Amino acid sequence: MAKNTNDEQFKNVISHAKEYGFIFPSSEIYDGLSAVYDYGQLGAELKNNIKTYWWKAMVQMHENIVGIDAAIFMHPKVWKASGHVDGFNDPMIDNKDSKKRYRADQLLEDKIERYKKDGKTEKAEKLQQDMDDALKAENLPLLKTLIEEHEIACPVSGTRNWTEVRQFNLMFSTQFGAMAEGSEEVYLRPETAQGIFVNFLNVQKTGRMKIPFGIAQIGKAFRNEVIARQFIMRMREFEQMEMQFFVRPGEDAKWFKYWKEARLKWHQALGTDPEKYRYHDHVKLAHYANAATDIEFEFPFGFKEVEGIHSRTDFDLSQHQEYSGKKMQYFDAELNEEGKPYGNYIPYVIETSIGLDRMFLLTLINALEEEDLSEGDKQDSRTLLRLHPCLAPYKVAIFPLTKKDGLPEKAREIMNSLKLDFNCIYEEKDAIGKRYRRQDAIGTPFCLTIDHQTLEDNTVTIRHRDTMEQQRIEIKDLHYIIGNKVSWKNLLR
Ligand code: GAP
Repeated sequence: MAKNTNDEQFKNVISHAKEYGFIFPSSEIYDGLSAVYDYGQLGAELKNNIKTYWWKAMVQMHENIVGIDAAIFMHPKVWKASGHVDGFNDPMIDNKDSKKRYRADQLLEDKIERYKKDGKTEKAEKLQQDMDDALKAENLPLLKTLIEEHEIACPVSGTRNWTEVRQFNLMFSTQFGAMAEGSEEVYLRPETAQGIFVNFLNVQKTGRMKIPFGIAQIGKAFRNEVIARQFIMRMREFEQMEMQFFVRPGEDAKWFKYWKEARLKWHQALGTDPEKYRYHDHVKLAHYANAATDIEFEFPFGFKEVEGIHSRTDFDLSQHQEYSGKKMQYFDAELNEEGKPYGNYIPYVIETSIGLDRMFLLTLINALEEEDLSEGDKQDSRTLLRLHPCLAPYKVAIFPLTKKDGLPEKAREIMNSLKLDFNCIYEEKDAIGKRYRRQDAIGTPFCLTIDHQTLEDNTVTIRHRDTMEQQRIEIKDLHYIIGNKVSWKNLLR
């Protein structure tokens, strides 16, 4: 089994995603919209299955975690309180000749990488340090000076004719209300987390939740990324799966460790090569965090963040308490019973935040392979999407051997008996071999062939995607065999 070189592999994934209806560029007939993508008929199914896997693991399997679905629009003060209005910025710089815009830190990062490749380690380290200092101090002129000193040219125009570096807020805003006068500026949420924080007491009280407990949510988020690249890796409209876990102050370190381990296990249960994952513990922490780590996956373009686990202290709830004037405190009856003085407190929060689209990309990259089936002089191969059966868009493909002799009718009868429990696809066009290959390419774990013998003895041929093994089995056993393989029990226990 051969995997292509990294660049080729990534290109293959992108074209496969388009060819088979997983992902299309948004508004493609108008030449697309940068960093916005649509999920097609198979993409929507795969994405739903990833969501289900996350929701089951986080909500269904934890008695003390509940899920919500908050609105995308929120009161503008939310984003003042959270720090996004003042601090959710990227430093950007424009090239005056090409009119292209770049993230200043990204230009410097690229230069650092080049220095490293050329063996200029000292230069790379020095530039890294200078850049980090400039970013930390929000010293924009220094970023420009570094770009000039290191002779960084625009990749498009080749010139070094740069504007000043400016801060660029990543939030999209729009007018709320129909009247031009009196309408208010609101933001499309840049993360789902704030919908959880502002509902903390609503959920706690109505759900009678006791600390420690969590609130989970899946939903869209929007960021006007200065540079968007690597397909669905960095988008302007994307989806997050986030969970805030509310704990007693002082127990945050314990729960941070718990979620750090639990989340990596969730990833690895899918059967991914463990070498492809790593933690990246943050050394420099945001002002509100006392610990943070990223779960990184080795994409064809290097190790990149898929998920963040952050210990956010009581920062968010305290901020909302201050800006809203409403108490965000929790009364801990158990602590009171124990006779400890602090029964009322603002909980600390451990957050797990995974990008659904990045998880989708990771899943496709991991699953897609070109399998060599050559025997002796006979060259052969197949394109295989080795998705975990729980995630596969279709679980079963149903093929009548021919379009006549009552075989399609029998095939439909079998499909009707399965389709409520398993997503099925029916195909009667082309030779069976060709139909098998098409299902391999979209990851369908089972193909059933209905032939003349089926009419006589109620058996079908079941063909397994990964091994290509074929068995004759009775129709009455189908539910059991398929159900076992696609059961969530295989992932969650
Ligand atoms: N509430 C915390 C938060 O939003 P983040 O690190 O900014 O943290 C969490 O985002 C996750 O969301 C990331 O690990 C990444 O998977 C995903 N993500 C962030 N920006 C994204 C973008 N522009 N496109 C796709 N996914 C993105």
